[in-house]
Amino acid sequence: MMDDILYSTRDLTVDYATRSGDVHAVDQVSLDIRRGEILGLVGESGCGKSTLGKALMRMIRPPGRISGGELWFDGRNLMTLSEKEMQHVRGGEIGMVFQDPMTSLNPVQRVIDHLTETIRTHEPKVSDAAARARAEELVEKLGIRRERLDDYPHQLSGGMRQRVMISLALALRAKLVIADEPTTSLDVIVEAKFLDLLRELRDEFDLTILMITHNIGVVAEVADRVAVMYAGKMAEVGDVYGVFRDPKHPYTQGLLQSVPNIDLDEHELYKMEGSPPNLLNPPSGCPFHPRCPQAMDVCAVEVPVFHEVVPGQSTACWLYELEATRD
Ligand SMILES: Nc1ncnc2c1ncn2[C@@H]1O[C@H](COP(=O)(O)OP(=O)(O)O)[C@@H](O)[C@H]1O
Ligand SMILES: [Mg+2]
Repeated sequence: MMDDILYSTRDLTVDYATRSGDVHAVDQVSLDIRRGEILGLVGESGCGKSTLGKALMRMIRPPGRISGGELWFDGRNLMTLSEKEMQHVRGGEIGMVFQDPMTSLNPVQRVIDHLTETIRTHEPKVSDAAARARAEELVEKLGIRRERLDDYPHQLSGGMRQRVMISLALALRAKLVIADEPTTSLDVIVEAKFLDLLRELRDEFDLTILMITHNIGVVAEVADRVAVMYAGKMAEVGDVYGVFRDPKHPYTQGLLQSVPNIDLDEHELYKMEGSPPNLLNPPSGCPFHPRCPQAMDVCAVEVPVFHEVVPGQSTACWLYELEATRD
């Protein structure tokens, strides 16, 4: 495995068993997360982003299951670890921040206790005073006054709770933070501040961040690279600069077209109609073909292969497959 890659999935597949059959929420996804980057994972609701995020931590619970693939994190295939070993990875190396931190913070525990417990699971011998001092230092770095450590989660604002979640990940000294729609419940000003903070923390703590969002504007704000997901598959992956300037996949083009104030070279943009497919019964061929204004006959029949089409930019789309065979 390459050294600059922190996390690499290979053909990751996740299904949910339902009464009507299997929902293919993540379908053979191979994705690399580079050390030190902020990777934005974007797509409309229901595309499988949260499922992918949870699968990276092996946190898929029944009726879901990881039905195939490899999860290479920092040199180990997490699929081969025992549940106990996985708990160490979750509790120490990968941190997670959710849209609503209230669901992951214990409501009857003060913020300080969350933090000191987290510090202690990582370093059991740390004294009370030292753990408290570390917690104070962390939250102050995140712009929360140390007095607030004695509050309960519900006494904090949404933005502060998100900061507490981040401070927990920092207390773990996590290498990777997976943030799933962390700013969706915040107002735009608090959101902008939070995104700035993420970039600062990445620089200061050498973090790698996977930022999951349905909002491609958030990706533009914060990410170095972007992975666009559609119907459980990767549609396009590349540097934010390249993808925003010259999106290859018609789905990416549609997503970008819906954002005001993003200038594109492409003039033939269109308004994206319809909605993502039901993953119980996804369309044949390219799952985007029923909505795609550039669809060709082949698109309904065969699945396009995901591959690099220009340096640093990969996509799964027949428009580029044909180009490749003509060359
Ligand atoms: N517990 C579950 N049981 C059955 N289907 C689920 C479950 N969780 C998610 N799904 C389905 O998996 C697909 C992907 O969901 P999700 O990962 O939450 O997407 P996103 O985060 O992009 O909105 C959706 O079709 C959703 O309905
Ligand atoms: Mg989600």
